[in-house]
Amino acid sequence: MSDMHTSSKDLEKKGFLDVEIDPELDLFSEIARIKKEKNAVVLAHYYQEPDIQDVADFVGDSLGLAQEAAKTGADLIAFAGVHFMAETAKILNPAKKVVLPDLRAGCSLADSAPAHLFAEFRAKYPDHIVVSYINCSAEIKALSDIICTSSNAQKIIEDLPKDQKVIFAPDKNLGAYITKKTGRDMVLWNGSCMVHEIFSLEKITRLKIRNPEAKVVAHPECEESVLKVADYIGSTTGLLKYTSRDSAKSYIVVTESGILHQMQKKSPQKTFIPAPPNNNCACNDCPHMKLNTLEKLYLCLEYEEPEINLAPSLIEAARRPIDRMLEISARYGL
Ligand code: 13P
Ligand code: SF4
Repeated sequence: MSDMHTSSKDLEKKGFLDVEIDPELDLFSEIARIKKEKNAVVLAHYYQEPDIQDVADFVGDSLGLAQEAAKTGADLIAFAGVHFMAETAKILNPAKKVVLPDLRAGCSLADSAPAHLFAEFRAKYPDHIVVSYINCSAEIKALSDIICTSSNAQKIIEDLPKDQKVIFAPDKNLGAYITKKTGRDMVLWNGSCMVHEIFSLEKITRLKIRNPEAKVVAHPECEESVLKVADYIGSTTGLLKYTSRDSAKSYIVVTESGILHQMQKKSPQKTFIPAPPNNNCACNDCPHMKLNTLEKLYLCLEYEEPEINLAPSLIEAARRPIDRMLEISARYGL
């Protein structure tokens, strides 16, 4: 790192602040100090590195994080997650400052739905409503009627009148899973998550043979062939709750490896085996989520950059479908 505060142009290019940090600094206590001084809150997704989860005020799945953002009394929100999550926090808190440790922390699923192509796609189905998975840009949210997450997608679809035609975007795997659960024939956008698509059924099967007592738990962003062998399918919060309440002693976990930190914390006596991807890469680590580090989190709290900024008209249009999601979720106690 250089010893100079990055200019806003550099920040745009690099995506994070480039400032030398004294190696003697205790980042845990520094982050606690800044949070107190600035009335700041750290919201972190389960896919963040363990240190970030440990300094966060709230760790959760996409729904939990949106609900937490909607009710926070903090003046500054540091979002340890990916860009669409920080955007959601900004949409829910237009008057507050929202910072992301690394602006480049994107999402392959969100990237799979460019707004101009999606607008053309939507125009082909004028009698359909659009239910979009929260893993999409603010522009896609503005083109949607209701937002959902992996925690509430089934309930949100079931809540619609039976004859209501639906476009479900952008995750085709979650869409196919919800179609199967609800029996609703939805028009699916062809997007997917690079992390959840790479799990190997062959390797999971081999792991299962070596660990016959282990239960398989999987996120619904995985492909159908993988979901077929799962004992439980759910959002990250769902998987965490299941493994902490269930009586099995070991689990093969088919989602991003960051969730293992909380699983192990909640159930120290149990064994959690990360499902392997279909080659020898560390692809069950989301490369976007893992761009955030404790150092970058400290810097974004200290300097209040990089900041999420959205046009007020976009905030207004994207907020409506998020509010609908929060209202339906509250109605079902989710
Ligand atoms: P949930 O947070 O809904 O479990 O989704 C996982 C995910 O891929 C977030 O990017
Ligand atoms: Fe996006 Fe997949 Fe990473 Fe989640 S795990 S942020 S869906 S690329």
